[in-house]
Amino acid sequence: MYWTERHIFACTGNHCNQKGAAKVINRLRFELMRRKLNTPVHMNTCGTIDLCDIGPNIVVYPDNIVFSNVEENDVPDIVAFLSGGEMPTRLLLNATTPAEMNREHFFAALRDAGNHLGESEIIALAGSYDLDRAWIDEQLRRGFMSKKPDEETTADTYAMTSKAMHRYRLG
Ligand code: FES
Repeated sequence: MYWTERHIFACTGNHCNQKGAAKVINRLRFELMRRKLNTPVHMNTCGTIDLCDIGPNIVVYPDNIVFSNVEENDVPDIVAFLSGGEMPTRLLLNATTPAEMNREHFFAALRDAGNHLGESEIIALAGSYDLDRAWIDEQLRRGFMSKKPDEETTADTYAMTSKAMHRYRLG
């Protein structure tokens, strides 16, 4: 925005809240005010960032970065970064983050299996990457996977969507 230097979106969706987002956000608001950063850094909450399994999540623009798995104790390092200090790289989500790489490997395996698996097969594949049924359901809700009846058997089949292909560079 033209009157701020940075814009932050801090997720307050259910999954992030269950893991302490409210405490993180309260501390972040307090620290931004205490350091008089609440004018150059504009913060809003939001309902999801589509990274529900690794929250609490915070997006920072124009840096175009996501801090994930943020805990209240991480807030001073985030605020130090927003003040011109070092990036807290341990919180930074990118393609080489272990959790993100694990998801990429799962989706690559799904692609290699023909991107068309039945329910028991997709659960088994996810399980081999330490991802559970709830995670699969989350991918369906967030549009990274789709579930459709097979044309012949009418049994549910699961596939990754173009959104997942783009995110994990699997197209
Ligand atoms: S609930 Fe925060 S990313 Fe989904």
